[in-house]
Amino acid sequence: MGDLKKYWKSFTVTLSLAFLLTACGGGGDGGEESSAESDPAESDSSTEDTTEALADAEYSFKLGVITPPAHMWHQAAEKFKEELEANSDGNMTLEIYPSGQLGNESDMLQQIESGSLDFGFITAAEISSREEAFSAWFTPYLFETIKDAHEARKSEVAQEMLGTLDSYGMTGLDYLFAGQRVMLFKDTEVKSPEDMDGLVLRVTPSPPMLEFYNSAGASTEGIPLPEVYSAVQTGVIDGMDMDLDATITNKFFEVVDYGAVTNHMVWPSVAVVNSDTFNALTEEDQQIVKDALETAADYAVNTRFDQEEEFKQTLSDEGMTIYELDKEVFAEQIENFDKVYKEKDPLIEKFITEFRE
Ligand code: BEZ
Repeated sequence: MGDLKKYWKSFTVTLSLAFLLTACGGGGDGGEESSAESDPAESDSSTEDTTEALADAEYSFKLGVITPPAHMWHQAAEKFKEELEANSDGNMTLEIYPSGQLGNESDMLQQIESGSLDFGFITAAEISSREEAFSAWFTPYLFETIKDAHEARKSEVAQEMLGTLDSYGMTGLDYLFAGQRVMLFKDTEVKSPEDMDGLVLRVTPSPPMLEFYNSAGASTEGIPLPEVYSAVQTGVIDGMDMDLDATITNKFFEVVDYGAVTNHMVWPSVAVVNSDTFNALTEEDQQIVKDALETAADYAVNTRFDQEEEFKQTLSDEGMTIYELDKEVFAEQIENFDKVYKEKDPLIEKFITEFRE
């Protein structure tokens, strides 16, 4: 919420409440009328007026996301905005800042914690810098499809993870999925971990990603999304961990020749809100926010699920060699990951145990 609006809101709400208290005779003028003596009809209407005063409040929120407007997470943010504004009859509005306009994810996370930014769709990778439990989402080959992961977000363990964010001044509200991770290579058709030997691969700067690729024998560089294009173009890296959506929206097909559709990890962003902002809302308004996010999350997963074949075709048309790689190829790395990560945190252990088939 903009500062001016915050002050204006608290000023008008205080004024309304002061007016209502005075009108009810409870304003400290001797209190001639006790609550027992007052007309019940009058006190009912004052409760209604108070509720109305709060309901009339106007909220103008900001949301930051790292991806460009064409990416599904931005489209999901647009859906969230649409729902929020329609279902609150315009009482809540949302301004979206895509493409890391407010800084990288680490900057945005700090802004949300401090309250200078209201909402963020932040990668679980970045969130795991606060709470390691979120690394559980990067367990390789845990979910067959993003729809399975979308279901899993409702589980007790996934909700417990969101609850851990309370101590950082933010409220974890939901998860959004935009495809699984694939591997892109500049000029090597990698078919097995052995082929990665000697290659430098970009991963999102996040320990579970590093663990997976390092155990496969690759050298890794943690590079944030906006810097990846030039890193591969200039030969700093030989390939990258990515999703198909971002491969298109960031035009990585211009600088890589091979795409292994491994679908080895899901890739949630976590919808977070500054806790003071959220707690200042009425329960009804909080529900509007949650429902709007749920609609956005459903929209993202359903749209994205249907686009898989189209995206592969687009990348082939752009000249890339697109191929599938079976899960069995990475059997050793999967076993290693489960062993190492289950020991790190009880929530990770619970999550892997629940969803590993
Ligand atoms: C990445 O860092 O690879 C990434 C971040 C957000 C959306 C898609 C990809």
